[in-house]
Amino acid sequence: STAPEIHKGLAGVVADTTAISKVNPETNSLLYRGYPVQELAAECSFEQVAWLLWHGELPSDEQLDTLQETERANRALSDDVRDLVDRTPTTAHPMDVLRTAVSLVGAQDPSAGDASPDADLAKSVRLLAQLPAVVAYDQRRRRGEDLVPPDEDLDYAENFLRMTFGEVPDPVVVDAFRVSLILYAEHSFNASTFTARVITSTMADLYSAVVGAIGALKGPLHGGANEAVMHVFDEIGSAENAEPWLERALAEKRKIMGFGHRVYKKGDSRVPTMRAALERLVEHYGRPDVLDLYTRLETAMGERKNIKPNLDYPSGPAYHLMGFDTATFTPLFVASRVTGWTAHVMEQAADNSLIRPLSEYDGPDERHL
Ligand code: CMC
Repeated sequence: STAPEIHKGLAGVVADTTAISKVNPETNSLLYRGYPVQELAAECSFEQVAWLLWHGELPSDEQLDTLQETERANRALSDDVRDLVDRTPTTAHPMDVLRTAVSLVGAQDPSAGDASPDADLAKSVRLLAQLPAVVAYDQRRRRGEDLVPPDEDLDYAENFLRMTFGEVPDPVVVDAFRVSLILYAEHSFNASTFTARVITSTMADLYSAVVGAIGALKGPLHGGANEAVMHVFDEIGSAENAEPWLERALAEKRKIMGFGHRVYKKGDSRVPTMRAALERLVEHYGRPDVLDLYTRLETAMGERKNIKPNLDYPSGPAYHLMGFDTATFTPLFVASRVTGWTAHVMEQAADNSLIRPLSEYDGPDERHL
């Protein structure tokens, strides 16, 4: 018999249909429910985009009010979740803290096992509201700072930043943060989203799917890249070291973090928008050195390998300039991507088929003891 064709890494495999987002590497475009992501980043709040991903249409004013009210009412951490964060050692990566906390948030929800669309939507809003509180508090306690409680008068992005830094920063900073959240929200069948769909396909609950997705996002080939990019910037130090650093790294066969993409081979559709936000931050903080290094490494990588940056390349230094600890970058990605994950969970559940591929056995032939 002929050996079956193996699709290692499922590269090129179309696993299902989705109405949530469309990635087109040929035209270098990304649509959320039909809207170009650049337009959403220019015009919308993150809450509007969350609603769009979940419901398929942008919210009316009334629908947006309802979402905002529920999100604001669900922000405060329970004592148990706070206690759990406190007890998790600071030697643990913030992604591990977040994964653990989300697991408890789920276990504390009496309707965790209710898989009706309404219940799943309520769980999605709850997670949207709770994740920033965990991320912000974890960074603060690592710095020896007290918890900053949520402020119901602020929108999602402003409140997230205030819970992290104790005050709402300059509008330029809030806006760059909002843009990053919108760009990170959704990207079709990436590894973490597919993980969430696999878990949902067994008819497990939404919280289990999100906990699994957090695990998948942690790795540096996926969401962990935004943190890894910052380590690269730190290693290089300043722009004039970019080329020699790259030569060494390529000679050691290292993957350069923040470059390359499984789907986009001609450049990541989200990069120009995030780069523009980074430029505004560089201007605001008076840090042209960051942009110098950014451009120098990007150019060198283009010349040497013809590989273009992905979204993590501009967002890493952007989060750094905003004042986030490097280890907090991937948890920020989680806080945003939870909207896409949960939209996919609901889409998968609505028309489910167990995800269970085959493997080709290549171990020893049958043998006996
Ligand atoms: N640095 C050096 N070489 C690279 C890189 C890179 N970042 N990306 C791809 N290549 C090379 C790769 O070595 C291979 O070369 P060869 O054909 O000589 O073996 C060729 O380009 C094709 O790459 P591949 O590894 O087959 O491509 P892939 O689709 O399996 O990998 C990727 C995609 C994202 C895992 C990879 O580009 C990578 O490891 N990038 C660095 C990590 C990163 O930035 N990840 C973020 C991804 S996008 C947003 C997100 O999910 O957060």
